[in-house]
Amino acid sequence: MTVDVLLGLQWGDEGKGKVVDFLAPRYDVVARFQGGPNAGHTLMFDNQKYVLHTIPSGIFRDNLINLIGNGVVIDPIVFAKEIDNLKKAGVPYAERLRLARKAHLILPTHRYLDAATEAAKGKARIGSTLKGIGPTYMDKTGRNGLRVGDINAAGFEEKYHALKAKHLTLLQLYPEIDFNLEQEEARWMETLDVLRSIQLVDGEYYLNDLLTQGKRVLAEGAQGSMLDIDFGTYPFVTSSNTVTAGVCTGLGVAPSRIGEVIGITKAYCTRVGSGPFPTEQDNETGEFLRREGGEFGATTGRPRRCGWLDLPQLRYSVLLNGVTQLAVTKIDVLNNMEHIEAATHYRYDGIQTDRLPYDIDATAIEPLYRKFPGWRQPLSGITQYEDLPDTAAQYLEFMEQYLGVPITMASTGPERESLIVR
Ligand code: GDP
Ligand code: IMO
Ligand code: MG
Repeated sequence: MTVDVLLGLQWGDEGKGKVVDFLAPRYDVVARFQGGPNAGHTLMFDNQKYVLHTIPSGIFRDNLINLIGNGVVIDPIVFAKEIDNLKKAGVPYAERLRLARKAHLILPTHRYLDAATEAAKGKARIGSTLKGIGPTYMDKTGRNGLRVGDINAAGFEEKYHALKAKHLTLLQLYPEIDFNLEQEEARWMETLDVLRSIQLVDGEYYLNDLLTQGKRVLAEGAQGSMLDIDFGTYPFVTSSNTVTAGVCTGLGVAPSRIGEVIGITKAYCTRVGSGPFPTEQDNETGEFLRREGGEFGATTGRPRRCGWLDLPQLRYSVLLNGVTQLAVTKIDVLNNMEHIEAATHYRYDGIQTDRLPYDIDATAIEPLYRKFPGWRQPLSGITQYEDLPDTAAQYLEFMEQYLGVPITMASTGPERESLIVR
């Protein structure tokens, strides 16, 4: 069997959680392959809203394994909170959840470093979620990191204290900030027991064995392609490979195992945190989208920056990920718009192109837009693609043609069932 992939094509928050939750019953395993508690994936069903950070979005479905892969970084404190919420919701998480031993641990001092480096950057800050993501991946590639499997091994405490000591030395480079290390450390140590209560696996063997047995696997991305460490709007990115290639390294599956790649995009565009955003509408249109779309971060509560769809940007993401199907979300947010715009080209350095420049931050990009009529009617209750208003269908079909990939899902609301499957 192959691994299907669902991942974000923009700057995150495309609605991955919702669509994974919807698709999960078609699979035996849902697996996260990168990122960590910087992610916030929202699910809505039975009039309840759930936000997941490290736990895969298949956790509410029966008879399904949810694997947290080696490419993910784990903060035991956040993880314990998520487990607590699942307990309260009566979800039998213990039998559904597996955690890869090779996943790296976020220490309290990783969060401390994240906050201190961001504070020191001032206006040039990345706008990190302050969850310790960057410093943890730095220690991973620097070969200093602690892994989940280490918590049950001899010498764990010494390793922890050695790494913490290194961090405290590093922290002297930065102006002092408020951080209650003693308290955070005590909580961290306590919550390690929650990690110990989860079934730990050698994720690569575990997953490949399941594939050999014919099990169907869906890999769930976090963040989005424009936040990828290599291909995103560097340095305003996250610290992992968010593209399809990350599935192979983050789960231990061979490239030949990759099946369908479902790329997910909003019908417009958002970004949270700093960095370039060519089609941003820092005006009434942006405010309209933020209000109608409830565009506030699921992890940090920060208002998201909003703008028009950026088709050259999406074409880039389609290329990087090998997208075979598109899921378009939040179409309903555009319901009351007189007209809709989408960038089809950029103008910069005296040229007109559909390609992103090397340094998108230093380049003055002028997006060239195409205008579409709005539909000015609600979409709730529509379950068949054919029942969409003509103008909505025209907008989607333009996207399809431009990107050369079929739209197989169109989402018309936050609830699990508000989804048109074609
Ligand atoms: P993720 O990080 O990609 O899982 O996305 P988030 O959960 O951070 O943000 C998506 C937000 O949009 C959440 O509040 C969802 O409940 C909501 N949402 C998802 N799909 C739709 C949709 O089709 N329409 C509307 N109005 N909201 C949606
Ligand atoms: P999901 O999975 C949107 C952004 C942050 C910041 C940059 C780096 O919910 O789509 P980090 O904490 O990773 O060092 O922050 O990346 N960012 C996200 N933006 N959705 C996310 O995840 C994000 N995860 C990180 O805002 O700009
Ligand atoms: Mg999110």
